[in-house]
Amino acid sequence: MFKKITFSFILISTCFLACNSSKKETVVSESDTKKNIPQTKPSLKNNFNNDFLIGAALNTSQIKETDTNAVTLIAKEFNSITPENDMKWEQIHPKENEYFFDVADAYVVFGKKHNMHIVGHTLLWHSQLAPWVNEIKDKKKLEHHIEKHINTVVGRYKGKIHSWDVVNEALNEDGSPRESLFYNVFGNESYLELAFRLAEKVDPEAQLIYNDYNLWKPEKRKGVIRIVENLKSKGIKIDAVGMQAHWSVEGPSIEDIENSIIAYSELGVKVMFTELDVTALPNPWELNGAAVEQSYERYEGDLKMDPYRNGLTDEAKEKITKRYEDIFKLFLKHRDKISRVTFWGVTDGQSWLNNWPIKGRTNYPLLFDRAFQPKEVYHNVLALKQ
Ligand code: G3I
Repeated sequence: MFKKITFSFILISTCFLACNSSKKETVVSESDTKKNIPQTKPSLKNNFNNDFLIGAALNTSQIKETDTNAVTLIAKEFNSITPENDMKWEQIHPKENEYFFDVADAYVVFGKKHNMHIVGHTLLWHSQLAPWVNEIKDKKKLEHHIEKHINTVVGRYKGKIHSWDVVNEALNEDGSPRESLFYNVFGNESYLELAFRLAEKVDPEAQLIYNDYNLWKPEKRKGVIRIVENLKSKGIKIDAVGMQAHWSVEGPSIEDIENSIIAYSELGVKVMFTELDVTALPNPWELNGAAVEQSYERYEGDLKMDPYRNGLTDEAKEKITKRYEDIFKLFLKHRDKISRVTFWGVTDGQSWLNNWPIKGRTNYPLLFDRAFQPKEVYHNVLALKQ
């Protein structure tokens, strides 16, 4: 499934409805009482309440609330949620006449209960597509099934899911159209028009997003501009560009990210950072002479590729912290253009980056550690506002 995800993937790049106005809780410590300085109980959502929504992608055990430690953290810190896997086509619509809504229903209940902005992820994506859809070669038939899928899924959650990743990853790295099943059967990019039109028709109030990685890249940026301008020129609603933001400590540059924020915003859409995480681990394609491969199994268990298995060095920790500070400084600078920042996961231990591109590594890409505690970087990010 990662077939088309190229070597540059790790540098991947990515207030509406209930812009959750969570009340700031005031706690006063003994020493502060003496100084009479009230303090705000820290949380990401309170801290950035006037800037953008702060979200997290939830896995199944978080949605089902069996992971109670994570649930407590999610409720305290975030005011937006995205399902990491449970609404993808292969999960929710695995067979032609079979839908599986149990987890998605629980997800929506979770968001409502915690008064959160609820994101649907994702309606059309070439990856994690149900195998039966991959067999369709006829355009009319594919149109019919896309229509049925969007009508059914968006229809079921009309008024409950506040924004949708309508199409995911439709572009190659050079900005040309990705030759996905959808592109190949339609013969062009018009499947995007169909998907956005249908989503708007079913739920005109929902925010509609085009979501992709590496959108900081100047050449890929051109592809996004083409897609957004085409939709807009045909009167088709698109509200935001979702920059996934699977980044590393080394890159992409703040300048490239900033140029994309500005370019997308000039198209008259909001910018969202939909899948933020920062990897500090080496990647196989960075090794001298290593070829880009489909599988990196032979590196499993190799300590050179998993250098922080027993904990981060001070140097690595500082790099991650500095990187997150730079990123959030940029986000704050462009808070008028950015409507949501979503982390791709909740704690380091639960991140997909422990298993990609090499399985079983120990990565540190998020703001909460394996014991569900805020890391030093969390406090540094909060401090940018204080
Ligand atoms: O649930 C099964 C489990 O039963 C089985 O034993 C195990 C064996 O490998 O697989 C488990 O499923 C995995 C699933 O994540 C849940 O953990 C899949 O193999 C694995 O491929 C899947 O990966 C997900 C990936 O999308 C698939 O494309 C990641 O969790 C998820 O974080 C990632 O998210 C994507 C976004 O949707 C789109 N943007 C890129 C982003 C990162 O790839």
